[in-house]
Amino acid sequence: MTKVLFVCLGNICRSPAAENMMNFLIEREGLTGQIICDSAGTAGYHVGAPPDRRMQAAGKARGLAMVGAARQLVPMDLREYDLILAMDKSNYRDILSLDPQGKYHHKVKMMCSYCTKYSEEEVPDPYYGGEEGFNFVLDLLADACENLLQSLKK
Ligand code: 4NP
Repeated sequence: MTKVLFVCLGNICRSPAAENMMNFLIEREGLTGQIICDSAGTAGYHVGAPPDRRMQAAGKARGLAMVGAARQLVPMDLREYDLILAMDKSNYRDILSLDPQGKYHHKVKMMCSYCTKYSEEEVPDPYYGGEEGFNFVLDLLADACENLLQSLKK
């Protein structure tokens, strides 16, 4: 079993979208129970909230339901998960800062390091923008999640 944690700032837009998309692919490939996904935010502003309604709408338009409740990343997550994927560089730094001894830094990677169709280094924060930002996040995540799944299957 491999445990993957997706991390963004608020855990209401990017990381829950990544978690829901990955779970969709895991089910499609018959890998339920073999790859376990969760998501968390480096900040606690939205703890308990469902995915942002704009992300829910963007997902629904592609046939993807967005479920979950926001939670904040805790130091124990670095011990518990096998792979921790940061949406942007600020998330990446904040994740590493929870592990000052660097014991788990090898588990932390950038989500976009799995992209092959896009050259972006970060999944941009869509929160203060329009609908197209949410759609672009889903495009990037679809690319990254497909490649992530292939790499986990090996
Ligand atoms: P996320 O987006 O990190 O993709 O969940 C954001 C959600 C909330 C805020 C910023 C980004 N906020 O500032 O409240």
